[in-house]
Amino acid sequence: MAELLLDAQGVTVRFGGLVAVDQVDATFHAGELVGIIGPNGAGKTTFFNAISGVIAPTSGRLVAQGHELTGAKPHAYARHGIARTFQTPRVFAELPVAANIDFGLKFAGRRRTASWLLKDAGSILNVIGLSAQAALPAAAITPSQQRLLEIGMALARRPRLLLLDEVAAGLTEAEVENMAQLIRRLRDELDLTVVWIEHAVTTLLRHVEWVLVLHQGRKIADGTPGEVVRNAEVIEAYLGDEMAEAVA
Ligand SMILES: Nc1ncnc2c1ncn2[C@@H]1O[C@H](COP(=O)(O)OP(=O)(O)OP(=O)(O)O)[C@@H](O)[C@H]1O
Ligand SMILES: [Mg+2]
Repeated sequence: MAELLLDAQGVTVRFGGLVAVDQVDATFHAGELVGIIGPNGAGKTTFFNAISGVIAPTSGRLVAQGHELTGAKPHAYARHGIARTFQTPRVFAELPVAANIDFGLKFAGRRRTASWLLKDAGSILNVIGLSAQAALPAAAITPSQQRLLEIGMALARRPRLLLLDEVAAGLTEAEVENMAQLIRRLRDELDLTVVWIEHAVTTLLRHVEWVLVLHQGRKIADGTPGEVVRNAEVIEAYLGDEMAEAVA
């Protein structure tokens, strides 16, 4: 069995009376490419926030690479191999693209990565395809390039588990496909484990091997793409009959 990078058990996040994440169990092993789907407000981003230390879960348990991290801060999660992007890109707009990557590298320190291909800013820019934009201020690159830069900044933390929150949002169909190809390469060539939240369901389901479906905070399904598109509760809550047929 591949190494268990993150074990999330019964993760629950409450905001006052709202249960945004409700008793979600998930395990992510080395080398997996997992998708998370579900309607707006299902709790996907909140789940990422909980498993990256951005917010402490109300209850539940989080263990990363064997280390109990429940309630720990983001840097503790980063230290144990977990990096994430944000649904709203958080690049340093006035700094050059390469300096944005350097910023992440500085925080990663000398921590070894799974791949030597992520050893410096130049190699990370190469992986994400932004070498030609290295000297431009981040504000001067296109929105889709800013999404790539967000991924580069997460890679600079030298993760083993990379959490991607809607990195293809707002991109054209061709750009979404390119993004999917990049995500595949991160897993296949850089040996990363990737968990990918996206509403572009047809593309996502073509590329991932396993899918978690959230609805009203609960995990309503957990299976291969073929299994979840045939799941009646998933069709009802999110996919709809037409979409389910289209992706099946
Ligand atoms: N900081 C917060 N305070 C209060 N409520 C919040 C907070 N963050 C999220 N919520 C609520 O928690 C629920 C889950 O939100 P979340 O952003 O996790 O959904 P999502 O699945 O990521 O949705 P989307 O697909 O639109 O990004 C929503 O009802 C949202 O309004
Ligand atoms: Mg979200």
